[in-house]
Order: sequence, then C-alpha cells, then structure tokens
Amino acid sequence: MSSLAIDNIGLLVTNDPALGEGPLGKRRDCSLVFEDGVVVAVGAAGALADEALDAGGRCVIPGFVDSHTHLVFAGDRAAEFAARMAGAEYEAGGIRVTAEATRGAGAETLRELARQRREEGLRAGITHVEIKSGYGLETEAERRCCEVAAELTDDVTFLGAHVLPAEFRADPDAYVELVRGPMLDACAPFCRWIDAFCEVGAFDADQCRAVLEAGRSAGLGLRLHGNQLGQGPGVGLAVELGAASVDHCTYLGPADVEALGGGETVATFLPATDFSTRQPYPPAREVLAAGATVALATNTNPGSSNTTSMGFCIALAVREMEMTVDEALWAATAGGAAALRRADLGRISPGARADAVVLDALSPVDFVYRPGVPIVAQTFVGGELRWSAAPI
Ligand code: NIG
Repeated sequence: MSSLAIDNIGLLVTNDPALGEGPLGKRRDCSLVFEDGVVVAVGAAGALADEALDAGGRCVIPGFVDSHTHLVFAGDRAAEFAARMAGAEYEAGGIRVTAEATRGAGAETLRELARQRREEGLRAGITHVEIKSGYGLETEAERRCCEVAAELTDDVTFLGAHVLPAEFRADPDAYVELVRGPMLDACAPFCRWIDAFCEVGAFDADQCRAVLEAGRSAGLGLRLHGNQLGQGPGVGLAVELGAASVDHCTYLGPADVEALGGGETVATFLPATDFSTRQPYPPAREVLAAGATVALATNTNPGSSNTTSMGFCIALAVREMEMTVDEALWAATAGGAAALRRADLGRISPGARADAVVLDALSPVDFVYRPGVPIVAQTFVGGELRWSAAPI
C-alpha cells in the first residue's frame, strides 16, 4: 500500500456535489489522498500519507476525459488545412489521404506516433482517452490500429465505417458487409466500442445501423459521428439505438435537440473541429436547456482537429458556444466519463481512479482567461505522476 497526499490546495474541483459547493463540488483550502491508484479521501488541509505534495494554494481539477480521439494515424494534412484557410471547404474524403499513409506505416511507426500524441495529451491534463481506428479501412490495417490503440487505453473504438475506401467506390454495400463481418471479427477483441460516420460523403443511416447492430451483437457499445457537416439522421439514429454518445452535433434541428434532451445519449461537442473546418459552433445552450448530458472532447486527428489541447476546447466552448467555465470544465471531465460510461473517471471523490491535474493557476477560469498558455503543472493518472512542468 502506498499513499500520496496533495495538500494545501487552494481550490479543489471534485465534480461530486456531496463533497462541496455547487454541481462541481468545489472545496477551498483542502487536501486529497490517493492510495493504490484510487482516491481515498478529500478533506481539510494537513492530510497524512506516505508522501505529500504541496499544491501551494493552486487549483486541482479532475483529469480531462477525452472521449473522442483518432490518435493512431500516419502523415499530416497541413496543406489541406492551409487550403481551407484560403477558402476551400472541408470534405470527409480527406480521410482517404490519411488512410493511405496509415496503411503504409508499420505497427512500430504507428505505435511511436500514437505514444507521442498521448504524451502531448498528458502535458495538457488528459488523464484518459478513447481512441478510434478508422484510418486503416482494410482488415489488417484496422486490426493493427486497434491493437496499437489498446496499448494506450481500455476505451478503443472500431471505426471501420469511417469513409468508403476508393477500391469499394463501385460497391459500397460490399464494404459495409466487410466492416460488419471479417473486419469487425478481427478488431473486436481489442475494442469496447463501435462507431460509424453518418454523413453525406460517408455512410447513410441504413448503413450505419447495420454496422452498429453488428457491433452490438459482437458485444460492443455504440457511438456515432452525427450532424457534423449538415443536418441529417445521425443524432436521431444514435438516440434510437441507445448509443452512449453522438459526437459533433454541429448542425441540430429542433427534433435533434428534443431527442437529445429525452434520451440517454450524451451529446459530445468537438469545437476544435468547427474551428479548424470553419463551421458554425454547436448550439450548446439549446442542448443544455433541453436537459441533455454534454461532453467536450478534442477529436485529435490530422484532418479536422489536429490538437490535443482540452484547454483550447474549453476556451472555444466558453467563448463561442456560450457555455460557462463550470459547464465546460464539467463537460471535459465528468461529461467525457459519462460519454464513455465510466463511473470511475471524471471526479475526485473516494473510489474514483486517482486522476487529477494540478494547475499553475488559482482557478480553471484561466483556461479561457489565458488562452493558449500551458497552465497544467502536474498530471496524475492512477495515482502516478505522469507529467510535471517542473521537478517536484
Ligand atoms: O471526427 N468526421 C469524421 N472523422 C474525423 C475527421 C477525420 C479526417 O478528416 O481525417 C472527425 O472530424
């Protein structure tokens, strides 16, 4: 048994209303104790443990739970991004460019690239990631991506239905059959989830339903990319199928908002994508007013959102989507945990995994007030110090 106390915390965000003030359960001038990888106590300053870290009056928050990433890929699409900034439109077809580079990369290269991106996320305070496949688009390459992802997280998502590969252009149904058959069989052992991209230029509602239902029969939970590039059937389908999350939700009609408000499916916003694709931002206020659970995630990928900064996503959610800082922080931590159906993540309260972030700031407002400034001082995952801006 080994324990660590983080003491002299000026402001602690627990996300447990039973432990402090308001929905985020905020406490002042306190300490917390980790033991054997879990949180065992939150209390007054001066807690005793085998080791102690003095937070120096700074703020401590739950680790960010990044519930939507595509960390396993090769190549970059900087030229596509530059063209977009010069007026070109974002198209889902760019996924094929990354698929070509990813198919050509060996497992070692993919492993090292994904590891570097995961390290970058730790420096930004991300203590847990979901990782999707979706840049292999053939059975062995998808399997390889899932295997590499599974070395970094236990929330791996099979996304064979990301876009139609060029060689299946004449026969999309044959590709859907491949995804829901042999490709799913090869990938499922590494995965907890299945996802599909429901959009014009990707897959229609019937194709997505077929893929998701096959995934469910294989024991996987459901997620969906929906309503990213225009209004469409994605949100309705995700809610109808009881998916854990529908991600993007950029273009929502009244029926979509109502469905999200009445269902169990988390609405996951990816505002760094809307930034990079020059699209409008999701109508967060309407979705919150409808009573839906909301998550924020980075969507790290080379095409539409090449960032691992949850702080940037929080800043966009507050500045552009009119979420409060507290709402955005909750969405990036407890909201991400809800989107992954993980009761052990997204909070600092007894029994939770010992994931926490010490900020070089007095409050989380600084994510927005000092945008782009690296304010993460230390990142703890399962009680282990995984990143520190300075030796401690
Ligand atoms: O979530 N929407 C689909 N997939 C990614 C984009 C991937 C790409 O452009 O490479 C996304 O935005």
